[in-house]
Amino acid sequence: MKGMFLTLEGVDGAGKSSHLEWLAAWFRSRGRVVRMTREPGGTPVGEKLREIVLHEPMHAETEALIMFAARREHIERIIRPALAAGEVVISDRFTDASFAYQCGGRGLAEARLEVLEAWVHADLQPDLTLLFDLPTEIAARRLATARSPDRFEREEADFHARVRAAYLRRAERHPERIRVVDGSQGLEAVRAQLLAILESLP
Ligand code: TYD
Repeated sequence: MKGMFLTLEGVDGAGKSSHLEWLAAWFRSRGRVVRMTREPGGTPVGEKLREIVLHEPMHAETEALIMFAARREHIERIIRPALAAGEVVISDRFTDASFAYQCGGRGLAEARLEVLEAWVHADLQPDLTLLFDLPTEIAARRLATARSPDRFEREEADFHARVRAAYLRRAERHPERIRVVDGSQGLEAVRAQLLAILESLP
């Protein structure tokens, strides 16, 4: 079987994590081997970088470079081997998050990240990206109940609105792989949307 690379994206509080297990179960029920992973993180080095980037104050460019450093390791050690073995790789976030958070949120030039993207994974893109989208006020309300928020979750409302807008621009630019899911609905309704997307896969 051919490997498949699936990524989940969305603003903090969009609810993507609630659907991870269900998505994995869907693929497993079709006989696929599923590798679940996340960014930043996914490897021992990546998880250490995650701790740093989520909690230590730093320059926006340092933040972007750490995201791509962790990604380099992730691709080498986890993503490529799993795809080569024919597995379905489901990553909770990937490079679209860098364009949304570091460019949209922090204001870095997209040209900067395009250089890093070409360096780190010129010949690899997700086969499918599920973008969980919802008004940021709803996401903020969901996050308000979350345990100890990280540096990104603590950002002000404007930051999250810019992140959302950047994600939606990216979806417009890459309609061949990014599918927008209305994350403002309840669990069952979101699941119905996901099912429709999965069943339409070639
Ligand atoms: P998140 O998936 O929200 O983790 P959790 O559900 O455990 O809170 O991811 C951590 C944060 O990292 C999230 O706020 C977005 C941010 N991030 C970036 O800013 N750039 C990136 O390239 C990636 C992968 C994540």
